Amino acid sequence: MRIILMGPPGAGKGTQAEVLTKRLNIPHISTGDMFRKAVKEGTPLGMEAKRYMDSGRLVPDEVTVGIVKERLAEEDCQNGFLLDGFPRTVPQADALERTLQELGVKIDRVINIDVDKDALLKRLTGRRVCKSCGATFHIDYKPSREGNKCEFCHGELYQRSDDSEFTVANRLAVYAEQTAPLIEYYERKGLLLNIAGDTEVETVTQNILKALGSV
Ligand code: AP5
Repeated sequence: MRIILMGPPGAGKGTQAEVLTKRLNIPHISTGDMFRKAVKEGTPLGMEAKRYMDSGRLVPDEVTVGIVKERLAEEDCQNGFLLDGFPRTVPQADALERTLQELGVKIDRVINIDVDKDALLKRLTGRRVCKSCGATFHIDYKPSREGNKCEFCHGELYQRSDDSEFTVANRLAVYAEQTAPLIEYYERKGLLLNIAGDTEVETVTQNILKALGSV
């Protein structure tokens, strides 16, 4: 199955992607994770991406499209994949369509997770991530059983540099302007499934799987 997971920052894309990719046995392709890895490794891509990410802006389309194109050509994507956080602009969506045409495949479904703005602010400013294994927690909704250490690997938890109140406000504005138009884009193609994201994590997962026809 080839799926795009859409939704504003903090909608729960990463949280849902982790469960869905295990259930559906497909790779999880997150452009945000790819950029964060490049930043951590100090590569030229990471240094360029960091300038945009820290201010809540989008990394330029040509850079983002290039890394996704390379990733989709890899062996493990042959039988499906889940795209998380890509595409985020109409030019990215058009480029994705061209890439998939070259590969002779099509997107099956686009899942749009919908959550209201106040809830997004609370989710993002309260998010904590493990420095070692990348597990995601929330100080109120999903606290680690080990306080400020990861309950899975005992790594240190940190707040993403783009989860400050100021940057979050920018990210939400960028989403409204540049990414939200993709909802209509995919609706017109008959691919869109809207899922309410303001309930328990497990309920959201079940609703997505039901909508995909997998349960
Ligand atoms: P990216 O990493 O993709 O960030 P994002 O889209 O802003 O999404 P988030 O990762 O912040 O949120 P999420 O929806 O995954 O929520 P999560 O599951 O963590 O991108 C970061 C940056 O990289 C961008 O700003 C941009 O600069 C750049 N970038 C990335 N892709 C790009 C592209 N295609 N083009 C250009 N630039 C790009 O959940 C959030 C919190 O809520 C967690 O604490 C979680 O525990 C909690 N939570 C989740 N679900 C629930 C629930 N149901 N109830 C209660 N709490 C919940």
